[in-house]
Amino acid sequence: MDPDQIKTATALVGATAIALFLSRPKKAKNPFTRDARTDPKPFEYSKEARNAIIKGTSGGYLKRKVEKHTGANGEFDAIMIGSGMGALSCAVIMAKAGKKVLVLEQHDQIGGSLHSFHEKNFEFDTGVHYIGEMKNNTAVRFLFDQITEGQLQWKDVDDEYDTVVLVDDKKQDKDSLNVVDEHFKKGTTLPSVQVSMRSGKEATIQSLLKTFPDEEAAIRKYYKLLAEVRKATVGFVGIKFMPKWLASLMIKTGVVNSYTNYFKLAEKSVTQVLDELTDNNALKAVLGYNFGDYGTMLKDAPFVMHAVLVNHFLNGVSYPVGGSSEFAFHMVPVIERVGGKCFVNAEVQEIVCNSSGAAIGVRMKKDGEVIKAPMVISNAGLYNTAALLPPKVSPKFDSMLTSGVQNGVGGMSVYVGLNKSNAELNLKGKHFWAFWTERGKEDLDKVTSDYCDRSAETCADGPIPLLFISFPSAKDPLWDKKHPGKSSATIVTFANYDWFSKWEQGRVGKRGADYQELKDKFKDLVWKQTVALFPQIKDCVEYIEVGTPITNKYYLRANKGEMYGLDHNKER
Ligand SMILES: Cc1cc2nc3c(=O)[nH]c(=O)nc-3n(C[C@H](O)[C@H](O)[C@H](O)COP(=O)(O)OP(=O)(O)OC[C@H]3O[C@@H](n4cnc5c(N)ncnc54)[C@H](O)[C@@H]3O)c2cc1C
Ligand SMILES: *[C@@H]1O[C@H](CO)[C@@H](O)[C@H](O)[C@H]1NC(C)=O
Ligand SMILES: *[C@@H]1O[C@H](CO)[C@@H](O)[C@H](O)[C@H]1NC(C)=O
Ligand SMILES: *[C@@H]1O[C@H](CO)[C@@H](O)[C@H](O)[C@H]1NC(C)=O
Repeated sequence: MDPDQIKTATALVGATAIALFLSRPKKAKNPFTRDARTDPKPFEYSKEARNAIIKGTSGGYLKRKVEKHTGANGEFDAIMIGSGMGALSCAVIMAKAGKKVLVLEQHDQIGGSLHSFHEKNFEFDTGVHYIGEMKNNTAVRFLFDQITEGQLQWKDVDDEYDTVVLVDDKKQDKDSLNVVDEHFKKGTTLPSVQVSMRSGKEATIQSLLKTFPDEEAAIRKYYKLLAEVRKATVGFVGIKFMPKWLASLMIKTGVVNSYTNYFKLAEKSVTQVLDELTDNNALKAVLGYNFGDYGTMLKDAPFVMHAVLVNHFLNGVSYPVGGSSEFAFHMVPVIERVGGKCFVNAEVQEIVCNSSGAAIGVRMKKDGEVIKAPMVISNAGLYNTAALLPPKVSPKFDSMLTSGVQNGVGGMSVYVGLNKSNAELNLKGKHFWAFWTERGKEDLDKVTSDYCDRSAETCADGPIPLLFISFPSAKDPLWDKKHPGKSSATIVTFANYDWFSKWEQGRVGKRGADYQELKDKFKDLVWKQTVALFPQIKDCVEYIEVGTPITNKYYLRANKGEMYGLDHNKER
């Protein structure tokens, strides 16, 4: 940066500060004036007591139940569509500012991707394995503590939290499957190269050097780039706090690049950055291992976004004690304490707008009734929200729905209940990222796209090249008390929505024999590949079920069965 640029940047930052000061809201109560943390109450083990909150403190939506809770002016201060973590966080912060928020969730429980389900005395989380930055007194930890009033507790996951497992496989065909099958039958472990990520940068570098002793320069350069992104991200977030006109001006004039490197760094994909670092394909695969956490192939994902995630995990990861239903369990009461209300079985059919196109309420699918509020907030996702708007208003969304924006990749989860304890099976809390890829020619982009591009008929013809294998029971310190003598495994992978789309209209559990057959194909494949790596769990299955992209659509209204909302590609 030359001195002139520094002057310009400084002036703009100053202007932002003044603009923010002048436009600051005057009436709202500051939601963070008081430290909201209280001593954690004992964990609530009773399923009934938990459901009384998570499944709605007065059950499913009915218009007359809503009317019982409307304020003096006959309205809530705001309506929130959806009850995922985004919705709950916003509603809690509004509640702390004294606002009455009506949360409307179409599923039969609150929490969105953070809900859990019970089957045969097992409980499974659907969408949280780990979260970083919970150990230190970080901004993220502060926010979690405040919005859950200190009730949500965290447990550190093993020091080695992620292990990359590279299985040598040249062809991804029937022969490769036979190799898996042999190990499955004999109960022997499939050979692999394993590299672990550990809590702390230097610990991880040392771990990488054990497998890649000649690659120290590339590895250290990678961590330098991560640090560069960390710095650039601060500037990027700063722009989000600026008035829109100022941010646009900075971007248009290019001045933004003297303020943060973020935009420059965002032009490169992860694959490009890794290619520039080294020719060692195995190392590239290991450094790119966690693209399954955001669901975009390395060649399409911006390096900055990948780096933000790796930085987030740098000092190790944590798990919510008691499982993912704890989020909603501790947030619903905060919303309702000031007169807000959370309803389940409450699908919003339409956002009702007045003739000038301002949202004035929502129409409910169940009874066609309109509920009014001066503010409507949708956390149902961009595509769902656009579809809820009347035709006259929705064109304003059209430019947002094109230009690089698309649905993210579909997800498939296999939930397994095991009839032995964590200790008996020697299960670890860490996660395993297993890839079937040719030794020396590791190419995660290629194996992933080859797999996702298969047809429904051939999708089970070879091993699934990418599996995220975890044992959630080994992460939760309360598991053994809740489910003595048992444990659980959850395996996640990508799945093409088109393989399943023809059944999307069917009802859950009633989609017919051919749907079941295709699900079983995947179930067998995932299970055999998992047992080939963890033979000790083979004969312990008490429950096993597959969630497909249309399961995500049914329970979460994920448009194309996507796991992580909009695709996180570079263009976006
Ligand atoms: C398999 C998987 C693993 C994951 N692992 C991790 C992890 O380890 N760490 C991590 O940090 N994150 C993880 N995530 C991501 C994390 O779970 C999500 O980012 C987060 O929970 C999303 O919250 P949200 O509020 O954006 O949306 P959602 O949770 O998707 O909530 C949207 C809600 O809106 C409701 N809705 C939609 N339309 C309507 C309507 N018309 N009327 C009423 N309600 C409606 C839906 O039913 C849904 O409940 C994972 C996700 C998945 C799927
Ligand atoms: C966070 O804590 C870990 C150990 O608990 C420490 O090594 C690390 O330096 C800390 N990071 C920050 C940013 O304070
Ligand atoms: C529509 O609602 C907005 C916001 O409440 C209001 O400012 C506007 O005047 C309304 N328009 C009409 C025609 O009622
Ligand atoms: C565990 O499940 C397996 C497979 O279903 C069964 O054969 C075995 O008897 C069960 N063991 C116990 C202790 O229940």
